[in-house]
Amino acid sequence: MKVEKVMVIGAGQMGSGIAQVCAQAGYTVYLNDLKPEFVERGLGVISKNLSRNVDKGRMTEEQKQEVLNQITASTDLNDARTVDLVIEAAVENMEIKTKLFAQLDEIAPVHAILASNTSSLPITEIAAATKRPEQVIGMHFMNPVPVMKLVEIIRGLATADEVYQVIEDMTKTLGKVPVEVNDFPGFVSNRILMPMINEAIYTLYEGVATKEAIDEVMKLGMNHPMGPLTLADFIGLDTCLYIMETLHEGFGDTKYRPCPLLRKYVKAGWLGKKSGRGFYTYE
Ligand SMILES: NC(=O)c1ccc[n+]([C@@H]2O[C@H](COP(=O)([O-])OP(=O)(O)OC[C@H]3O[C@@H](n4cnc5c(N)ncnc54)[C@H](O)[C@@H]3O)[C@@H](O)[C@H]2O)c1
Repeated sequence: MKVEKVMVIGAGQMGSGIAQVCAQAGYTVYLNDLKPEFVERGLGVISKNLSRNVDKGRMTEEQKQEVLNQITASTDLNDARTVDLVIEAAVENMEIKTKLFAQLDEIAPVHAILASNTSSLPITEIAAATKRPEQVIGMHFMNPVPVMKLVEIIRGLATADEVYQVIEDMTKTLGKVPVEVNDFPGFVSNRILMPMINEAIYTLYEGVATKEAIDEVMKLGMNHPMGPLTLADFIGLDTCLYIMETLHEGFGDTKYRPCPLLRKYVKAGWLGKKSGRGFYTYE
């Protein structure tokens, strides 16, 4: 099966990046979100990213326009009826994702593959909401998508080998490096990264050091390009909380309990960079 048309669901941080790299690789893309203004916001981010490439001489203005022309705005899930692949990048919430996958299963052509960019939720459970679990797979892109090379490809319990192969090949056409991972909470990336971020939040919560000091220790001492609290702000504190809850519930181990300070910030609407305030404040 050859992938030509892709629908990306969710035009947020991740969805807009995924739509951009797919369009740049020549795929016809539908970018879907709940409201036209959400899609517009995503398209605005893509346009800004591409303009930066034009300014740096990496592409021409015409090439930028060609990429933008590859993307069609959508607020109707029925647009999935002609696509070969759906990449879902809506919020990290099992109820929302299973509802979406059940609907997509009804709409998308029988040959279409349904992928989720979930950071941590079980692909097997998402697949069970459909009648085509063998055609459901995880495609976990990293943030920011146009920059980061890795895509974790997650096999659900029922994912067919041919489907895995199509997705691995397609990922390579995006200029990304696929890595195969089995379906366990947090996969590899977030099973290791998120407990570290959560521990950094506990370190702040318990008054061990200031946020700046915690970030500085990890940057200068461990050679991390970004401190864990800054990184949490970039990922989104709501996403960080969902992932910790998934690890906590999935393994039933108290070592994954989310820090109360993380819960408090999310309840306050301090979601990090995307809301203008998290551990730090943003323009
Ligand atoms: N932020 C990260 O660093 C990161 C990295 C890898 C994977 N992810 C995963 O990607 C997904 C999206 O994360 P994000 O950071 O882009 O979130 P975000 O909040 O920036 O964007 C989510 C978008 O999904 C839209 N949405 C919600 N419900 C929808 C529905 N039913 N139909 C269509 N659109 C819907 C929202 O309106 C919003 O625009 C999550 O599953 C997250 O875990 C995030």
